Amino acid sequence: ISIVKTKKREILNLFCNLKVVMMRRVLHVKGDVMCTLVLLVALCFLLYARQVKRKIHGSTSSSRSLLGSSSHTGRKEALQAGTKPSQSKSSPQIRSRSRKKKVIPTAAAGKRLPTLPPFDFERYLREKDKRSFNLLIDQPEKCRGAVSAPYLLIAVKSTAADFDKRQVVRRTWGREGTLHPGRSVRTVFLLGIPRNRSSLPLWDRLLAYESQAFQDVLLWDFEDTFFNLTLKETHFLEWVNSSCPHVKFIFKGDADVYVNVENILEMLQDREPGKDLFVGDIIMNAKPIRRRTSKYYIPEFVYGVGLYPSYAGGGGFVMSGHTARRLSSACQQVELFPIDDVFLGMCLQLIGVKPLRHQGFRTFGIPRPSAAPHLQTFDPCFYRELMVVHSLSVPQIWLMWSLLHDPKLSCHYRTGQTSGPFKWRGRVGELAADEADYGEKPVFLTH
Ligand SMILES: *[C@@H]1O[C@H](CO)[C@@H](O)[C@H](O)[C@H]1NC(C)=O
Ligand SMILES: *[C@@H]1O[C@H](CO)[C@@H](O)[C@H](O)[C@H]1NC(C)=O
Ligand SMILES: *[C@@H]1O[C@H](CO)[C@@H](O)[C@H](O)[C@H]1NC(C)=O
Repeated sequence: ISIVKTKKREILNLFCNLKVVMMRRVLHVKGDVMCTLVLLVALCFLLYARQVKRKIHGSTSSSRSLLGSSSHTGRKEALQAGTKPSQSKSSPQIRSRSRKKKVIPTAAAGKRLPTLPPFDFERYLREKDKRSFNLLIDQPEKCRGAVSAPYLLIAVKSTAADFDKRQVVRRTWGREGTLHPGRSVRTVFLLGIPRNRSSLPLWDRLLAYESQAFQDVLLWDFEDTFFNLTLKETHFLEWVNSSCPHVKFIFKGDADVYVNVENILEMLQDREPGKDLFVGDIIMNAKPIRRRTSKYYIPEFVYGVGLYPSYAGGGGFVMSGHTARRLSSACQQVELFPIDDVFLGMCLQLIGVKPLRHQGFRTFGIPRPSAAPHLQTFDPCFYRELMVVHSLSVPQIWLMWSLLHDPKLSCHYRTGQTSGPFKWRGRVGELAADEADYGEKPVFLTH
């Protein structure tokens, strides 16, 4: 019996030991789990903190998204090492819908090769000597008609599908008319043949009717693609040389910008149309992008030089008629280059015209002024001071136009706060006085 008892005790002891070991193991495991949990919580906290930090720092970009600048990655790459410290942080703008190729998110860069078929640069080089295409829809009366040639010709790059953008430009900043005696403003839209005609089956009828109704469509017989924008540039310049040779000044830009035509006219006030002038958001010392995944990728066999010449961001720029005519022949001597802004920079370099940078041209969107963080960037008092702002949606363009032309608009109380970041305005007093009674004056007389 005692043996049995001791055995029992032994077994009990064993059980107890086992229990302890088990407990220890459980506890040990629990310790591991606890440790992992603590680490996970710490990690989450760190991630959260970073997110919050990014939100605080990126508040300008979120306000910029108010301006419809969600597709901003491309232009930044075009800048890369450009000399725009203030804007290298803001992701500049791509001319959005007119370009067929999508920007591949930078996160995918390096990991994967482009998901889209890469652009065939060899084919481009083979075909680039074919650079003369027919004008299918002309506006021969655009520069006749009026007593004298237009003072300002507004040329807007468009695609057939972007009817709504043309309409809003026609009704807002692109409105034709006469601002002051002798200051006539005329508008044309520059188009090619849509590549995907099945998605817009009646495109040719649409353009024919638009041309009839508004007399502002210029259509050429090349495919309207991103890499053919250079053809649009050269053909437009040739059209100016042949059909609008006496135009005084030209604004050329995208349809998704807001343009303060009054400010441009004021800037041009003491400029000679017979002298060289090229003003815009000038990008200097930009390097060609050599990363294949970029929309702006340019292989070395297409452009071997390490830097691009100075060029104007495509959102919009102003040139004199004289410069446009000189460019039209200079550009014929320059080899076609797939990025139109850079190509025009090459033509400028050839004729020795130095493009001027002007603070009023914001073709890369507006960074929120650090001096006035309370100020929303979609603020008419802000826009009033600028000339060209990329990139706005159709309703935003209409709304900005309406706000700026509201007689009740009053900005005076803010001038002190907004003046900080904008150094260019020399004649602000006059400008403000001019615009204060803008609502009462029939400034644009549509003909
Ligand atoms: C053209 O557009 C149609 C309709 O939007 C679409 O189904 C088709 O895939 C497009 N084709 C090409 C080549 O992009
Ligand atoms: C430019 O347009 C021409 C004529 O339509 C076309 O053959 C060519 O493929 C287009 N080039 C690019 C790069 O889209
Ligand atoms: C520009 O127009 C002038 C006069 O009509 C003409 O002689 C010249 O060849 C034209 N230049 C170009 C590049 O078309």
